[in-house]
Amino acid sequence: MRVVSGIQPTGNLHLGNYLGAIRNWVRMQDEMEEGNRAQAAAGGSADRNQCLFFLADLHAISQPHDPAELKKGTLEMAAALVACGIDPQRSVLFNQAQVPAHAELQWLLNGTARMGWLNRMTQWKDKAGKNREGQSVALFAYPVLQAADVLLYQATHVPVGEDQKQHLELARDIAQKFNNDFASEEAPVFTLPDPIVPPQAARIMSLRDGSAKMSKSDPSDMSRINLVDDADEIMKKVKKAKTDPEPLPSEAEGLDGRPEALNLVTIYAALSGRSVDEILVEFGGEGFGKFKPALGELLVETLSPISTRFTELLDDREAIDAILARGAAQARELARPTLDATYRALGLVR
Ligand code: TYM
Repeated sequence: MRVVSGIQPTGNLHLGNYLGAIRNWVRMQDEMEEGNRAQAAAGGSADRNQCLFFLADLHAISQPHDPAELKKGTLEMAAALVACGIDPQRSVLFNQAQVPAHAELQWLLNGTARMGWLNRMTQWKDKAGKNREGQSVALFAYPVLQAADVLLYQATHVPVGEDQKQHLELARDIAQKFNNDFASEEAPVFTLPDPIVPPQAARIMSLRDGSAKMSKSDPSDMSRINLVDDADEIMKKVKKAKTDPEPLPSEAEGLDGRPEALNLVTIYAALSGRSVDEILVEFGGEGFGKFKPALGELLVETLSPISTRFTELLDDREAIDAILARGAAQARELARPTLDATYRALGLVR
């Protein structure tokens, strides 16, 4: 089992990232540890069992950006991931730009990816809007880099939120076509990765608009809970979150057509590890005046240890640099066999 996933180091880590992806990263890292122990006890080798998590800084230059902000954001995101529970001793934690094989493999895969496939990507369509001609080539080719990110390490499982599922399907298509065109069925160059999307919290929505996903690019900070928000900010954002005047229903179907209410109940359910139905048994018939403070408290309880640890880590810049340097060295090593096999399969003389 090889688990690989990434996050763009732009803006703050928010609740959508945490519940949709990072919490699953930590869970998979912990499960892997148990699996490795069991395998070692049985006398087997655990070589392929590994988690790799990275900061997708190369992806971040596909849109206009401030270089100083990107640099700062990268170090902060590394600290935030460690604060959330990614353990650099057990997982390989690194920054994409420190592992040139990602950009190299992307170029090699550009020969296999089809324009039509990329044109169908909903993220490309949403971000480019009507102004396709004015977009960077990097924004269009972005999903090929994402495919390279996971194929490079023979990833079997890729924990992501719902919005990244289509990119992972594209990675599978690229891998499949490359294997068909340049390798044999008995000796494929790439493994087809499976996206792992959490059953709950796959798509956390904005606190201001239940039809838009919670996102770092939303200009309003009130639309999201950042992992570094303090207790007062969290309580204020939850209190001001958009809702409707109806009380909560006692069954999940009653949330149909009430996206803002559904979002808040989903967040509560995901944080407490219970189902939406269970939450509605407790709060059905209550108004938001009672539900919101309970949600706010649960958020503060979950996020405050993370934000305390994050602040401590940020003070130790050298430690973060060392974590990233070590992770990148490990990643370069793990990437080499697949990169070499790709060059070979394509008939490139080196
Ligand atoms: P990014 O940086 O936008 O988000 C990181 C992770 O957080 C998830 N996520 C959400 N989940 C639920 N609700 C939300 N509102 C929400 N917002 C974000 C995302 O699904 C993602 O899992 N292209 C990727 C980064 C990337 C990557 C990769 C991921 C680059 N290479 C290879 C996996 C494998 C991105 O921009 O995610």
